Amino acid sequence: MKTLIICESTHHGNTKKLCDAITADEKDVTLWENGRGEIPWEDYDLIGFASGIAFNKFYPAIIKAAESIPAGKLVFFLYTCGKNSQDFSEQLAGIVEARGCTVLGSYGCKGFDTYGPFKLIGGINKGHPDRAECDGAVKFYRKLKKD
Ligand SMILES: Cc1cc2nc3c(=O)[nH]c(=O)nc-3n(C[C@H](O)[C@H](O)[C@H](O)COP(=O)(O)O)c2cc1C
Repeated sequence: MKTLIICESTHHGNTKKLCDAITADEKDVTLWENGRGEIPWEDYDLIGFASGIAFNKFYPAIIKAAESIPAGKLVFFLYTCGKNSQDFSEQLAGIVEARGCTVLGSYGCKGFDTYGPFKLIGGINKGHPDRAECDGAVKFYRKLKKD
């Protein structure tokens, strides 16, 4: 089974760290960054959507990509956020399910955040995602593929 992770990580590259940890560990994963060109959906069975969170949502480019996914794909979500207080993937899950795809799960953790007033104090969540959180993303992916 081949995997494509579509990633947008524009704030500090936090979410890309999770993606890089997975691609370093797993040989069958391709990273598709920043909406470059046409997404080659047909070459992949398992699709990951990866993004920071802005205003409680995945980034617009990722939502747009999800809105064009073909039916029949298996899907998972990766995200980093300032406050990891809820599962931010619910909106996207609804979008891909409505298009006939199956959601396998989501993994989210804290990411360095200097948005708005946080900039004045040097940001929050410095050093996140950290090693343990990146390892957590790898474990999440391995389990997803096994089940
Ligand atoms: C414009 C903007 C809006 C944000 N809104 C939220 C939010 O609603 N909830 C949250 O938990 N974090 C929020 N954050 C923090 C980011 O989700 C967090 O820093 C994330 O790790 C950035 O990921 P990236 O470096 O992969 O882009 C926001 C950041 C920015 C720049």
